[in-house]
Amino acid sequence: MTAVKKMRGDEDALRQTHMLIGGKWVDSASGEVLEVEDPAHRRPIAVVPRGRAEDVARAVQAAAEAFPAWSRTIPRDRGRLLARIADALEARLEELARTIALETGNALRTQARPEAKTTIDILRYFGGLGGELKGETIPLGEHVLSYTRREPLGVVGAIIPWNAPVLLAALKIGPALCAGNTMVLKAAEDASLGVLLLAEVCQEFLPPGVLNVLTGLGEECGAPLANDPTVSKLSFTGSTEVGKLIMRAAADRIVPVSLELGGKSPSIVFPDANEDWAIDGIIAAMRFTRQSQSCTAGSRLFLHRDIFDSFLEALGQKVKALKIGDPLDETSDVGTIINEKQFSKVCGYVEEGLRQREGRVVIGGLPPKEGPLSEGYYAIPTIFANAANDWRLAREEIFGPVLVAIPWTDEADAIRMANDSHYGLAAYVWSHDIGRALRTAHAIEAGWVQVNQGLGQSPGHSYGGYKESGIGREFSLEGMLESYTQRKNVTVNLMR
Ligand code: NAI
Ligand code: MG
Repeated sequence: MTAVKKMRGDEDALRQTHMLIGGKWVDSASGEVLEVEDPAHRRPIAVVPRGRAEDVARAVQAAAEAFPAWSRTIPRDRGRLLARIADALEARLEELARTIALETGNALRTQARPEAKTTIDILRYFGGLGGELKGETIPLGEHVLSYTRREPLGVVGAIIPWNAPVLLAALKIGPALCAGNTMVLKAAEDASLGVLLLAEVCQEFLPPGVLNVLTGLGEECGAPLANDPTVSKLSFTGSTEVGKLIMRAAADRIVPVSLELGGKSPSIVFPDANEDWAIDGIIAAMRFTRQSQSCTAGSRLFLHRDIFDSFLEALGQKVKALKIGDPLDETSDVGTIINEKQFSKVCGYVEEGLRQREGRVVIGGLPPKEGPLSEGYYAIPTIFANAANDWRLAREEIFGPVLVAIPWTDEADAIRMANDSHYGLAAYVWSHDIGRALRTAHAIEAGWVQVNQGLGQSPGHSYGGYKESGIGREFSLEGMLESYTQRKNVTVNLMR
């Protein structure tokens, strides 16, 4: 049985899917399902099993049973399987990309296809790291041999969001499995189909139970996973609010936890960067082509007062030229917001911005009530000028295409405002003056600062947040060692 099959061959029928537990494709124990909506047309396209505690318990048991053999598999052989998964996924890249675009509303050309490609890249990267799970020797003297081993933790419980669902799944699966752990992964309720497709390809190569994938709601399926006594590591990506619940669950059992949470990342533009490349960079950093549904979105734009108006004018022109439309249309640059709840939340922030007396709308506003864009959750990229850092729009993660521009004159003041946030995930600095740019980069409280670019993460760099943006690092060799292994020290007396 495959993870996704058509019912009755009827094109209009909802696709029916199954969860992966112990190498088998199964329904939820209750038989209940959840509908998956196409956010570009507000219509259901598939159903996924509504996993609950009973399903979680079965999946965790399957992962625990698979652990002894998997953890003893030669690390490079585990890596080799990940590399084969990457190759097999490459053959299904287009199917994967279209699935992501359909269920998330992320535009195929600008977002969903690049996500599918990065997913493959990530699996390949971790597939090559099996031989790097090295320990150390400790020089205690000639009479003793003291060394460390990097041992896996056991069953990892992973919970992921919907904004880059397949990439984030691979980001948990790659390092956890390479390091010898087994996993129960819960997909986000709004974006399970791409993750199930990834799971289907993984299952062609992995022994049963090494990877188990559940679908279901946060409270019904995510919470029991976080609280399962057999799970010995939690890795979560999503909201700071739920991240705190996950950390509490981890505290109850003293298990390690990695959290990759929200952000309100600053972009500081110096006057010498009043140029086209910087404008393109700001657009990329803001992730406008993912409707800014990104934890790293550079959503607070600190522009030097001397260039404030001219920069914003040019930025507005360029953002306006982005084509909003059907995510599956190759010519669309920008797609839709994920669901109704997030859509109304984003609209609420726009309304609030429009009510601010001191503020000014550079471009955008509320979405149209009529016409093709009203058929889906299309938000309009919006920029507010003359914002203040204490606006709710400048403090809370909007997770939508709403950018606030704040003027500054004094460098120290710009840095102070940039750091005046409970988040600290990413930041962007724009200047040709490398000394000034790097001094600023070092002064910013964030886990990842980019200078003169606004790109996405690449496998190999340790990624994670300061402050309430998270704890722990993923995406790299060091991230795998820190987040998915535990050190054991063995000390041997050589004189006996
Ligand atoms: P969320 O944090 O509620 O959902 C993320 C994942 O956690 C999903 O798989 C969900 O089912 C699960 N979950 C929810 N409640 C849970 C619980 N009590 N126990 C265990 N798992 C649980 O995020 P949501 O509601 O989709 O979005 C709300 C806001 O979160 C967004 O507006 C955005 O600000 C932020 N967010 C941040 C993301 C990031 O990449 N850091 C990704 C998605 C959302
Ligand atoms: Mg939630």
